[in-house]
Amino acid sequence: MKSIKFKTLFLILLIFFSLFFIQWFVINFFIRATLERQSNDHVISLGKYIASTINANEIQTLPEYDKTKTYGNIKSSLMNISQLFNLDNIILMDINKRVIIDLKDHFKNGDEYLFIDINDNQFRHLRQGREQMSTLYKNIKGDYAENFYIPIRRNSKLKGVLLIFASVKYFGFLKILNRNIFYIFILFMVITIVSSYIFSISITKPVIKLSKILNDIGKGNLNKAIPYTKRRDEIGILAESTNEMLKKIKLKDIFMRKLSASLAHEIRNPLTAIKGNLMLLKRFVQNEEEKDMVEDNLNEVFALENLVNDFMNFAKPSEIHLLPIEIEKIITKALNETVLLANQKKIEFKSNIKSAMIKGDGNHLKRVFVNLLKNAIEASPIGEPIIIKGDIVNGKYELTFEDHGPGIAKEDMNSIFEPFFTTKAMGTGLGLPLVKEIIEKHNSRIFVENNSKNTTIFKILFDIYGGE
Ligand SMILES: Nc1ncnc2c1ncn2[C@@H]1O[C@H](COP(=O)(O)OP(=O)(O)OP(=O)(O)O)[C@@H](O)[C@H]1O
Ligand SMILES: [Mg+2]
Repeated sequence: MKSIKFKTLFLILLIFFSLFFIQWFVINFFIRATLERQSNDHVISLGKYIASTINANEIQTLPEYDKTKTYGNIKSSLMNISQLFNLDNIILMDINKRVIIDLKDHFKNGDEYLFIDINDNQFRHLRQGREQMSTLYKNIKGDYAENFYIPIRRNSKLKGVLLIFASVKYFGFLKILNRNIFYIFILFMVITIVSSYIFSISITKPVIKLSKILNDIGKGNLNKAIPYTKRRDEIGILAESTNEMLKKIKLKDIFMRKLSASLAHEIRNPLTAIKGNLMLLKRFVQNEEEKDMVEDNLNEVFALENLVNDFMNFAKPSEIHLLPIEIEKIITKALNETVLLANQKKIEFKSNIKSAMIKGDGNHLKRVFVNLLKNAIEASPIGEPIIIKGDIVNGKYELTFEDHGPGIAKEDMNSIFEPFFTTKAMGTGLGLPLVKEIIEKHNSRIFVENNSKNTTIFKILFDIYGGE
């Protein structure tokens, strides 16, 4: 239940179901209660009328009573009423629950009627002269029915009980109503789901797109603009302010690159002069010790020159020309270029590189590999080898650089490709951003894996030339 889409859907369905439940409740309880009350009043007043027509003194259970004329008279008049008002049955009994007349003849004159459908309390009330009724039940025909107990009293004395069985027809009506409501419910549910889905999509789609673009921007692709600025809702506001922010970032980026370029430019000229002079000096110096000193200075100047070049590149990345190249040759060149640095730390390159043709820019790719190898050397403890593997895996050329240094801290993982991020005292933090920029211009991808504490692997996937 993470996404807005599901939350919206859930919320709308919740409202829908609650409304529906309320409606169902009103229909089934309120209307039903009203109908039930009306119907009950109707049957009770009918019962009272019947009770008033019976001569209370004639109510008695006697042997052979059912053969008397009075019995016949009462039974036929009860039968008429029962048919006229569509009642299920009428039973007349005395105060001792002895059946006198049962229109359906289930009980005979003198049989005891068991009061199973009203409780003792209700029976007491009945004795006191108050009409009682059973709870709703389903009769044999499957209709809802209720039993009504009507006291027959004369001179405030209970003389007998009239039991009326009446099925409650309005439940059929409620059933139909409920069935129709169910169909309407299904229809509305479908409409609700579809419309809430469309509604949530209209929110989530731009948000997903926005986050994708922002992700891209985060990776340094600043030439993206956010659509949806024409929308008049919150998404439109978000798009607008993001574009505004993007403009500012772009300005900052341009400023930073300009600053790097001018700084590098200012440094490069005197550096070239210093380099020339040192080279000249090296020729004139005879003393070995002094020669070493000049050599050391020259090496520092070379390092500075590299740094300046990095700055220049960051400021104005040079064009990349993709041509078919043998990748293993480029890797070998990079290894040769860094082997001296590795030797200083007694680090051995263990390489297993298969040959393959890819489309790339040799010079730029060599710089990528040199940067990665330099980082690996800088991270590796003395004497710990670096493993370089290149092979075709799943139709791609997979190249990995593995070292056994301290690894990259989790919180730094997102920053290492950002310009100027470095954890080194003498680092500029321009190596990996350059690597990434070049790799992306090759339509390739670079990944970092921090498998265990002491293993860092940089992996690059290249498309194979002619492979597709
Ligand atoms: N193989 C590695 N092992 C551990 N950390 C690494 C590795 N490679 C890169 N890093 C981390 O990533 C950071 C950024 O690397 P990047 O190459 O961009 O800059 P740098 O090496 O610090 O400086 P520069 O390359 O500009 O001299 C490093 O400072 C280091 O913290
Ligand atoms: Mg580096």
